[in-house]
Amino acid sequence: MYTLDELKEITHSCRRCRLCSGRNNVVFGQGNHEANIMFIGEGPGREEDLQGLTFVGAAGQLLTKAIEGIGFKREEVYIANIVKCRPPNNRNPQEDEMQACIPYLRWQVKLIKPKIIVCLGSIAAKNIIDKNLRITRQRGQWVEKKGVKILPTFHPAALLRDDGKKRPFWEDFKEVKRVYEELIAKAD
Ligand code: URA
Repeated sequence: MYTLDELKEITHSCRRCRLCSGRNNVVFGQGNHEANIMFIGEGPGREEDLQGLTFVGAAGQLLTKAIEGIGFKREEVYIANIVKCRPPNNRNPQEDEMQACIPYLRWQVKLIKPKIIVCLGSIAAKNIIDKNLRITRQRGQWVEKKGVKILPTFHPAALLRDDGKKRPFWEDFKEVKRVYEELIAKAD
């Protein structure tokens, strides 16, 4: 079994899909290797591709605020994406690109063993929970898979376009905190 660092090294030379040709960096994901909570977005944008880090652009600032708002530091959680290389002009990742990349994410989840996974936006939620999921209808509703509690919510970039999504997004983050505290209390 590889370690997370070894896996990261492997992805750095990945050529499993066309996105490798346009990348500046593979954006593997970062944070606590033993995080209880993992956030999963869609794919790197411009800033993320340049810095090699997940969620460091405008949407990332919102995500950071929300994580801190429920009492965590970014370094305490783990943040990754469905695809690790930037799709050109921030288009949605294509099905074959997601299928090529997701095995790496599954591997990350196996190594980190989070108790909670938060799917940020429709693409993450569809890939992780159910391909027919409707984010506006199902956000905020917990799903459990293989003992991991999974919550779909809006992508933080959607909040930048639509103020009305801010409140439900925040409600979902408070839910994450509530369930996290419940799990911790049970473990004691
Ligand atoms: N949007 C995402 O889905 N992921 C990032 O890392 C940045 C923006």
